[in-house]
Amino acid sequence: MRILIAQSTEEFGALAFNEMIKIIKSNPSCTLGLATGSTPIPLYDAMAKDHAENGTSYKNVTTFNLDEYVGLPKEHPESYISFMKKNLFSRIDIDMKNVNIPNGQADDIAAECKRYSALLEKASVDIQVLGIGGNGHIAFNEPGTPFDSKTHRVQLTQKTISDNARFFSTIDEVPKSALTMGIGEIMRAKKLLLLANGKNKADAVYNMIKGPVTTDCPASVLQNHPDVVVILDQSAAEKI
Ligand code: F6R
Repeated sequence: MRILIAQSTEEFGALAFNEMIKIIKSNPSCTLGLATGSTPIPLYDAMAKDHAENGTSYKNVTTFNLDEYVGLPKEHPESYISFMKKNLFSRIDIDMKNVNIPNGQADDIAAECKRYSALLEKASVDIQVLGIGGNGHIAFNEPGTPFDSKTHRVQLTQKTISDNARFFSTIDEVPKSALTMGIGEIMRAKKLLLLANGKNKADAVYNMIKGPVTTDCPASVLQNHPDVVVILDQSAAEKI
């Protein structure tokens, strides 16, 4: 596990971008695993800036997102597909046919999970971007999720619902469940790029890096992956 600590938001984005661009340059038909949330925004800003200034093309890039809320219309501004369009896809030349994200509005949620798992099984994700929850979750794999899990529906914990309430007008609007890539599928990516910033992540970051490998802290499973880069700001790094 390589741990890099950024001194500013700009450096945080630049360090993450540096890991991404190496992969995209070495294989313009690569497969990227993407995350939503506040943390990867400086990375997506750096990718958009580079695309505008240097013309890096994403025409042949395929993407897989980690998760999506259940029951939120795709057009809702807080759906994860809307988030991705706003923060990245509309700012680069990706072909939306190559974008994969679980469909949280599927009539048959179990069939949707199987469909997504089957796509992931055929894919080979070159780099997977991850954030971390204050409770150590990765994607929406909450504490207690088995390490060999595949795409599944989760009931979000009260902690995750209250953490995500900042994006909605009231906490009651936060969806109570989501579809998430499983931990087993995340671990199949060739490289993992975990990003964390802010004091509220410091305990989870400590447990991920220094704690025991246990489902109590889903992110601790990263200790078992051969190629992980962790990028932190100073507050998230304060306990390690
Ligand atoms: C998002 C995701 C979540 C977030 C995590 C941190 O696709 O999978 O695990 O990465 O909840 O969220 P932020 O970045 O908003 O603090």
